[in-house]
Amino acid sequence: MNIPDTVSNDLPPGDDLPASPEDDATDGKPHPLHRRLKSFVKRAGRTTDGQARAFAELGPLFLVPYTPERLDLTAAFGGRVGPTVLEIGFGMGEATAHIATVLPETNFLCCEVHEPGVGALLKRIGEQSISNIRICAHDAVDVIDHMLQPGTLAGVHVFFPDPWHKKRHNKRRLIQPEFVTKLAQHLRPGGYIHCATDWQPYAEQMLEVLGAEPLLRNTAPDTGYAPKPAYRPLTKFENRGLKLGHGVWDLVFEKRA
Ligand SMILES: C[S@@+](CC[C@H](N)C(=O)[O-])C[C@H]1O[C@@H](n2cnc3c(N)ncnc32)[C@H](O)[C@@H]1O
Repeated sequence: MNIPDTVSNDLPPGDDLPASPEDDATDGKPHPLHRRLKSFVKRAGRTTDGQARAFAELGPLFLVPYTPERLDLTAAFGGRVGPTVLEIGFGMGEATAHIATVLPETNFLCCEVHEPGVGALLKRIGEQSISNIRICAHDAVDVIDHMLQPGTLAGVHVFFPDPWHKKRHNKRRLIQPEFVTKLAQHLRPGGYIHCATDWQPYAEQMLEVLGAEPLLRNTAPDTGYAPKPAYRPLTKFENRGLKLGHGVWDLVFEKRA
């Protein structure tokens, strides 16, 4: 895996992007952003020695390589049979490791494109002797399109996805109609999508988009936003937002039977 170096870690997602397809079109073709959902910019970041060691020692056990073929989930989890939850964008994996520990019967397939984050989660897996996480260091959109069988997931976690604040970048948000339909199709009946964000306009978009998906129903129909499920810890990222006076919104939708 190559360490990406396109933008610095310090830039908020979206503040470095072309304003329109024309801004960086070189050959008259539309910019790739306008062909498929690309919800991330690969950030630069240093992989620490501990993370590099975790890659070398634990990578072969816990990394699931991306291949555009259906994944045998039971085999990927070393024969562990259990409900599978997909996490999209785990960052440094703090919440992921916690949740895997409090829900030991569940298998977590976790996608992240930020290499130091992948190393950090591998390190936590080693330190906390976690056995129910597998990591795919690849774009979750491809993983859903090519590796996962529709109707199989027990849940999807999308915690604090990149907010893409600028209006012209809103289309890069993960939670948008076409992608949500895809996620819902990959859930088994009764499966859930749990999103959390600290950016109110994105929370409102999530409520609107998830609420409009006919395959889903809101588990909090009266309030729209759900109480924070007990398994989701307060992360550093979230605490930072709370200190800045931001609210945090959880949304939990279930697939209709
Ligand atoms: C704002 S961070 C939040 C990280 C973490 N969930 C948290 O709560 O701290 C969003 C993360 O999602 C990742 N991401 C965005 N789109 C992704 C995709 N399509 N596939 C995999 N990871 C993605 C980014 O690399 C980034 O690390």
